[in-house]
Amino acid sequence: MKVGLFPGSFDPVTNGHLDVILRAKEIFDKLIVAVAVNDSKTSSAMFTLKERQKLLEEVCKGVPKVEIICFDGLLLEAVKKYKAVSVVRGLRAISDFEYEFQMAMMNREITSDYDTVFLMASHSYSFVSSRMIKELVKFGGDVSPFVPPAVMKALKNKKHI
Ligand code: PNS
Repeated sequence: MKVGLFPGSFDPVTNGHLDVILRAKEIFDKLIVAVAVNDSKTSSAMFTLKERQKLLEEVCKGVPKVEIICFDGLLLEAVKKYKAVSVVRGLRAISDFEYEFQMAMMNREITSDYDTVFLMASHSYSFVSSRMIKELVKFGGDVSPFVPPAVMKALKNKKHI
């Protein structure tokens, strides 16, 4: 059973993430989408961990072979725990490459148990990021083309808080 693990902040999940999930699930027998509990962006997160997990569950409802989990601590521990053979990451542009390269190589240096598989989302999502979505929403921009309907609803609710 080939398990892939797609880690991220998912604050919130975008159509770009969803596109990567749908592509990755074709490569593995099972895809674990892993929401990071404590990454460097947690303190500035818009959605709580539970909200991020719930949104991913809603968005991936009915998608076979996909499971949503949360992980605390190091990515490589989660990889071990879920017996993943590969970590999946999305690559948008060259600007993503340096960070992704560092992360993949650092993890490989510590453990050579798995490889990182980079997938490119569809061209129409190549510029979409959770950070941009949050900024656009903050200033009243329409993000409906870039996020699933469940996320759109959650963003509208956040604005009213
Ligand atoms: O969606 P993001 O914010 O780009 O995802 C980054 C994430 C969560 C994959 C990364 O911060 C991570 O793996 N965090 C867990 C802690 C860890 O293992 N850090 C060392 C990476 S070399």
